[in-house]
Amino acid sequence: MARSSGHVAYVAATVPMAIVVTVLCLFLANNVTHARRRPATYIVGDEFGWDLVIPMDSWTRGKTFYAGDTLVFKYDDLTSNMVVVNRTGYENCMANDGSKEYDSGNDRIQLPYGDSYYIGTYNPYDCAAGLKMAIKALAN
Ligand SMILES: *[C@@H]1O[C@H](CO)[C@@H](O)[C@H](O)[C@H]1NC(C)=O
Repeated sequence: MARSSGHVAYVAATVPMAIVVTVLCLFLANNVTHARRRPATYIVGDEFGWDLVIPMDSWTRGKTFYAGDTLVFKYDDLTSNMVVVNRTGYENCMANDGSKEYDSGNDRIQLPYGDSYYIGTYNPYDCAAGLKMAIKALAN
């Protein structure tokens, strides 16, 4: 009798503990899946860089960008540049007033939330030939 009640007491103690541990594990796993995403860094154009080898807008396809991600624009600083423009500048391939030109050949830009537009203007034909890129960054 004593042994049997001891067993019952043991089961009575371990079952709630198992439930607590299970709930705790589920809670932790859930927290991990909902953890904030780490900012990503992208080399624009991958191995081609910021270049006319591929239309830059095609490089963005299939990618999801978030505010806080970093874009790295790599190009020959003697023959190219990169200008952060607004939508008008992007559509007309002309740097608008208030746009910002970069020419280091290795520019790191942190994506703001929402729409961003980038064009190359060193050679006037570059943008029209595909050196232009529009990106929409989602909230992180
Ligand atoms: C872009 O900037 C130019 C110059 O400030 C302005 O005239 C134009 O309306 C702007 N375009 C957009 C879409 O905000």
